[in-house]
Amino acid sequence: MRAVDLIRLKRDGGTLDAAGIRAFVSGATDGSWPDYQLAALLMAIVLRGMTVDEASTLTAEMVRSGDRLDLSEFGRRAVDKHSTGGVGDKTSLVVAPLAAVCGVVVPMMSGRGLGHTGGTLDKLAAIPGFRTSLSLTEMTRVLRRVGCAFIGQSDQIAPADRRLYALRDVTGTVESVPLIASSILSKKIAEGICGLVLDVKVGRGAFMKTLEEARTLASTLLQIADRSGLDAEAVLTAMDAPLGRAIGNATEVIEAIETLKGRGPADLEMLSVRLAARMVVLAGIEADDEAAEAAVRRALVSGAGLERFGRIVEAQGGDPGVLDDYTRLPGSEVQEPILAAGTGFIEAIDAECVGRAAVVLGAGRDRVDAPIDHGAGIELLFDVGDRVCEGEPVAIMLAATADRCAETRALLSSAISVGPAAPTCHPLILETLTSGVRPGEIRL
Ligand code: URA
Repeated sequence: MRAVDLIRLKRDGGTLDAAGIRAFVSGATDGSWPDYQLAALLMAIVLRGMTVDEASTLTAEMVRSGDRLDLSEFGRRAVDKHSTGGVGDKTSLVVAPLAAVCGVVVPMMSGRGLGHTGGTLDKLAAIPGFRTSLSLTEMTRVLRRVGCAFIGQSDQIAPADRRLYALRDVTGTVESVPLIASSILSKKIAEGICGLVLDVKVGRGAFMKTLEEARTLASTLLQIADRSGLDAEAVLTAMDAPLGRAIGNATEVIEAIETLKGRGPADLEMLSVRLAARMVVLAGIEADDEAAEAAVRRALVSGAGLERFGRIVEAQGGDPGVLDDYTRLPGSEVQEPILAAGTGFIEAIDAECVGRAAVVLGAGRDRVDAPIDHGAGIELLFDVGDRVCEGEPVAIMLAATADRCAETRALLSSAISVGPAAPTCHPLILETLTSGVRPGEIRL
């Protein structure tokens, strides 16, 4: 089937059949479709959407583009967590070691930064020596040693997502329910897991801006997971303001380590504990939230989570010395403050603007092959609802050059609004949706 015919079919609102979807995914995997045709079809999907059947077939084909891990040797239910994309969202770095300490096998496949949101792979790449491009054999070895491994899509596993994900990042084709669902689930099914906790972000800094859109994404994810026998649940969480106070790569690694030391921001710690606890329940290790949260808290307070993170870093070739010495991480030549525009309360910190500002500072990409600056990013000095005085620093820009800061200043300043009244605080965790599936074989 010719690529151009499939593009025109979707552009005109048609439905792609299994053969067409297979041609698209093979074209992405074996390189026979050029970037411009892949990007054109991605854009047509963004604009015209897909049925759940199409999205489900797309997911299955993306899984088939590579190998699937066999984790049966562990004799336990492997469980993972994945976020649909947020700003300052470094929960994976906290959640994975905590869940592993509680006995969960965590083969965590993540992505690079996507659009204005950060990516776990880019954050981990800030740790000198840390390798996420592990072969399946290496990944299994790491899992045996430390119960958790962080990897990226590769030639072997989820190769179609690797190419499509990188293209979507720089072609304005991220915000699509079927593309997000197939991207996430193809990776997760290929990992060989039995259970998945999905952190579906909603709000200004998320790809789904409204609760309705987030529910649609969550229910699509759950339906496709259901069809593949994957036991999944979706926790809808607010992403109006960044999570925690660090946005970037090295700076987010530091905040994650601080959280594992018990000194992290309250929102990040609370969400990490809750998500890790749901993984412990889905793994069948504890029967209910209360017992699971107690186990996760013990892992945090005892320092076992921090110790496990250090072992993961070491097992993947990284420098575990970063846990005690943050100067071993990439820094920034230039640090410039953003000053409060008035006196009063911080009414909002617009996560999308902050995410875009971090990309401009160098923490993300504007081209598929653009290098990123792991030391670049933003440190927020206040939370929404805090009191500030006019002229006081409210955020620090971290960059390689003063020019980058100059280019970013107006955007970041506009993200932080100060007003006379304390804003109403909204809950971080909004609701939870579960699939009807119970533990079983992955069939997709
Ligand atoms: N995470 C992914 O892996 N893919 C997306 O499309 C969005 C978030």
